[in-house]
Amino acid sequence: MFNKIRLWKNQNNNSSTLREHIEEVKKLPVPEHVAIIMDGNGRWAKKRALPRIAGHHEGMKVVRKITKLANALGIKTLTLYAFSTENWKRPKNEVDYLMKLPEEFLGTFLPELIDENVKVEMMGYKDQLPVHTLHAIEKAMEDTKDNDGLVLNFALNYGSRSEIIDATKKVLNDYKSGILKESELNEEVFSSYLMTSDHKDPDLLIRTSGEIRLSNFMLWQLAYTEFWFTDVLWPDFREKHLIEAIEAYQNRQRRFGGI
Ligand code: FPP
Repeated sequence: MFNKIRLWKNQNNNSSTLREHIEEVKKLPVPEHVAIIMDGNGRWAKKRALPRIAGHHEGMKVVRKITKLANALGIKTLTLYAFSTENWKRPKNEVDYLMKLPEEFLGTFLPELIDENVKVEMMGYKDQLPVHTLHAIEKAMEDTKDNDGLVLNFALNYGSRSEIIDATKKVLNDYKSGILKESELNEEVFSSYLMTSDHKDPDLLIRTSGEIRLSNFMLWQLAYTEFWFTDVLWPDFREKHLIEAIEAYQNRQRRFGGI
């Protein structure tokens, strides 16, 4: 099976070979929840003497490709780190563009996502998002709320440390008001206070562009996740790379601390 996949990796991605390889990969357990730190848009643009926002635009097109493949593979949740709570420090024109991307993406591809039974969700701090960004996301969430295929979960204005602190504050409030007893607090209960309460923890984390760090992403949820790093810049990330990551995942032995 793996030889077949390797062969395919060296070929052009025509749709019939892609379909065949999707079927091959699905013969082994596919990760239910894949999280991706989409990194390298700026470097991709710089290499081509283009403005950074050109890299983000190209990266947006990759989101479409990877969403389609994730859905076809039967992945249940795809969480994409689209904007961190630290990304506000970037130049205004870049932040403005990043805040326009959800509208641009959903304005173009929402009908396709609806057709493909994808459910759009978002995790992150909504309050600081521009109204136009939030409207685009909320409309997509509303229009896809009954879909039961892939959950496409955008981490937008998301930061894991703040998420953990906020969860802790909610736990303290519930403790003070008697809703939660100290003896009832365990990992599962704590998880239910996080933004990811509706999702299982990621099985596989992918980070592109050669950076090997978490950048304040899902610190609690990634405790037992398998990590896969690649030097490929996000705008160059293709279906074959996701297949490669899943193939690596399928060869890992997950022990969750056991033997
Ligand atoms: C990191 O690359 C990337 C981001 C901060 C933005 C990611 C956003 C997208 C890929 C598009 C998202 C699409 C939708 C639909 C919301 P970087 O800019 O830090 O790259 P660099 O490290 O090379 O500078």
